[in-house]
Amino acid sequence: MCGIVGILGDHEVAPIILDALKRLEYRGYDSAGIATLHEGAMYRRRATGKLVALSDLLVNDPIRGKAGIGHTRWATHGAPTLANAHPHQVGPVAVVHNGIIENFRALRKELTADGVRFETETDTETVAHLAARELARGKSPEEAAAATVARLEGAFALAFLFEGEEDLMIAARRGSPLALGYGVNEMFIGSDALALAGMTRRVCYLEEGDLAVIRRAGAVIHDASGAVVERDILEVSASNAVAEKGNHKHFMEKEIHEQPTVATYALSHYTHTVDGEHASAHAGPATVDFTAYDRIVMVACGTAHLACHVAKYWFEQVARLPVEIEVASEFRYREPPVSPRTLAVFVSQSGETADTLAALRYMAGKAETIAAVVNVPESSIARESDLVFPIFAGIEVGVASTKAFTCQLIVLGALAVLAARQRGVIDRTQETRLVSALETVPGAMAEVLRDEKLFPPLCWHLAKADDILFLGRGAMYPLALEGALKLKEISYIHAEGYASGELKHGPIALIDESVPVIVMAPSDALFEKTVSNMQEVMARGGRILLISDAKGLQAAGEGTWQQIEMPDVDPFVAPIVYALPAQLLAYYTAVTKGTDVDQPRNLAKSVTVE
Ligand code: G6P
Repeated sequence: MCGIVGILGDHEVAPIILDALKRLEYRGYDSAGIATLHEGAMYRRRATGKLVALSDLLVNDPIRGKAGIGHTRWATHGAPTLANAHPHQVGPVAVVHNGIIENFRALRKELTADGVRFETETDTETVAHLAARELARGKSPEEAAAATVARLEGAFALAFLFEGEEDLMIAARRGSPLALGYGVNEMFIGSDALALAGMTRRVCYLEEGDLAVIRRAGAVIHDASGAVVERDILEVSASNAVAEKGNHKHFMEKEIHEQPTVATYALSHYTHTVDGEHASAHAGPATVDFTAYDRIVMVACGTAHLACHVAKYWFEQVARLPVEIEVASEFRYREPPVSPRTLAVFVSQSGETADTLAALRYMAGKAETIAAVVNVPESSIARESDLVFPIFAGIEVGVASTKAFTCQLIVLGALAVLAARQRGVIDRTQETRLVSALETVPGAMAEVLRDEKLFPPLCWHLAKADDILFLGRGAMYPLALEGALKLKEISYIHAEGYASGELKHGPIALIDESVPVIVMAPSDALFEKTVSNMQEVMARGGRILLISDAKGLQAAGEGTWQQIEMPDVDPFVAPIVYALPAQLLAYYTAVTKGTDVDQPRNLAKSVTVE
């Protein structure tokens, strides 16, 4: 995950930026760079590999200046080469960037038609070109940055530096976090509070859509509408920044909000751009050949098991590879026969869940290959597997899994696309479509979080219910199960998830006005069928809370009790994005009820007993 640092200081900044980048090393990176301003001119040094390479370069070829930006890059668009390393400079503007610019291919086309020649394969270079073009058209740096950011789609954090403007940095946040640090006649930017440790403890976290015009005397922050706003400045204890709640009330809330960032990070490990045009999936740090298997067996517990449920739809529909899934506690005692050419996949956030580990040990020596999809690469499940696919979600503290679930889905989704390509089921164009759909996930997640304020009033109603049903069809069925699991885990309200079509085979007997029915249904090929199921509920006085996109909400017509409008996403990635409303409904219902959100009664984060 890329790291951003920026300083308008009182001393030479290059060594201080280098130090701050060191504090961001934990995020992972493969190249780094710094740009500074000195006597009106811009200077830039970049190096591939570890920071020591950049540090050596700066010793041999130092750069001066009391204003500068720095970056550690984890390659997403384009290999980790020197040319692709940040900062990117076009004319008088330098940019560092974290996240994904979803519409960069379209912007690149537009700029190329305008005569621009690209020097890198990155999405970031389009940002620098857009800003330089705005400056050339006579805009001020502030106007140029704002106009540039307005053209971008996706989830990102950006910092700009302008030649001739030694008392100016511009920072923008959409989806990826960015913090401002306040010093004494000095200002700082960092991807997180840890980057700012040692420089200042007075930190302001930019909010979604904010653009900050920063000068040594302070910052003027504009919100998404352009209005000037005040944001709180907090005192942080930087030493614990990684495991702190920041300005969140609960770890679960923090982890829900981290999703656009960690999803980007997970994506950056499993997808890449080929020749500036095609998007492609790969196996992250592992190597796998899906033509070597005739079927996949997926085993897990809890939320991780529900991620397998979604993955089954993907592997079977996209890659035409049969998948069996089972909860680990059943699988291990069922003693199933295992045919050769079986890939056994164990999905676990902690990598230590006893039942999953026992199932893995049962399969060892029977399946062709044992693979682990884990958040903790040092865990037992990872150590005992032939292949390890880390999900890169970062430490998850809340007992109810949120960001680990969506990162599991991103990794499994990318692997399904890879399997489809390797097995010759899809071509380059179809692969680009599917990977591009995955790339829209962080931005869509950020969009859901922007409307978070809609959830508390809704959950005030839900908190009064004794029973709640969740319905979904196709790959949204596992999401219905996950919505119900999340809700019962932390709010203690009895909730069940059902396949929409199964309603009339039993659960419809429960329907009356006291049982809210939450329907998760993007306007996909199955939507009309779900509408019929909703009619069945409404005809019996049931109250429907419909979670769908604008088209779905309109098509559903009158009669629903409540609605949540979702961004319009490709059906392939809908199960990932719809996890967020499921999490937010559970979270705010639990907060309304006053239950212990992060450590619900009777539950443990890592279940290392049978
Ligand atoms: C516990 C947790 C769940 C988690 C499950 C599996 O029950 O409370 O949130 O989904 O274990 O854990 P794992 O670490 O294997 O994903």
